[in-house]
Amino acid sequence: MKATENAAELRGLRVAFAGREVLHGVDLDIPACAATVLVGRSGSGKTTLLRALNRLNECFEGAHTSGSVRIRLGKDWVDAYGDGLPVTELRRRVGMVFQTPNLLPLSVERNLTMPLRQVLGQSRGEARLSAHAALAEAGLWDEVKDRLSVPALELSGGQQQRLCLARALALRPELLLLDEPTASLDFLAARGIEELLIRLKERYALVVVSHSLPAAARLADRLLVLREGQVSARLGREDLERGETLAGLMEELF
Ligand SMILES: Nc1ncnc2c1ncn2[C@@H]1O[C@H](COP(=O)(O)OP(=O)(O)OP(=O)(O)O)[C@@H](O)[C@H]1O
Ligand SMILES: [Mg+2]
Repeated sequence: MKATENAAELRGLRVAFAGREVLHGVDLDIPACAATVLVGRSGSGKTTLLRALNRLNECFEGAHTSGSVRIRLGKDWVDAYGDGLPVTELRRRVGMVFQTPNLLPLSVERNLTMPLRQVLGQSRGEARLSAHAALAEAGLWDEVKDRLSVPALELSGGQQQRLCLARALALRPELLLLDEPTASLDFLAARGIEELLIRLKERYALVVVSHSLPAAARLADRLLVLREGQVSARLGREDLERGETLAGLMEELF
């Protein structure tokens, strides 16, 4: 996919929970091979916006979504909420990494091979190869290549988060959603993930929620500020490189 193309397009997106609307008509183009970063105060709707992209809001009773969410899958555009794409397939193509690592109480390798076998139907051998490739892509291979059979929950926080990222990457997503992926990590581990994301955005469309404005500014090709369920500012790289823009944003956000 060329960097100038979009990976997803949202038009007039509204999400309500139990009749209370929390996203009030969001229009957003998500470019391929770039990082779109969302910032905003707590409760502004960042997680809800991410979850709208892979229909996770539907897991909550009383959630209602309207407007359009279109995702580019190869050459085709599909309506994420239409009948053309089963929701399991949508969630494979639109991978998600959460704020806290959510691994299964299985070995490092099985955390990757199990979804590969179940979701992609790979054989044991194929799944192991894909798992190892994904570990390398997530910058974890050297650290875990001799620990593939240890319980994943024995890894450090930063390693667990990269394992979650490897698991999402192994399923060959078109779009990768990350909700404050460094929030539960110490400074060094957070920096490691940040550098990894900067490398991954060369090849993937990333949508990242960040609680750190400096980190957001380092990663973002586009920075969106959400305010009470609406996009209140959109900044590109040039804006982000001007110190005063960030200082102004800092004031608005914190
Ligand atoms: N499952 C849910 N049921 C009911 N209301 C919800 C649900 N999820 C989110 N909301 C409401 O939607 C609004 C936006 O929440 P959201 O989690 O998207 O905010 P956020 O920007 O991610 O905040 P934070 O920075 O604290 O993670 C809030 O008012 C929240 O209470
Ligand atoms: Mg959130």
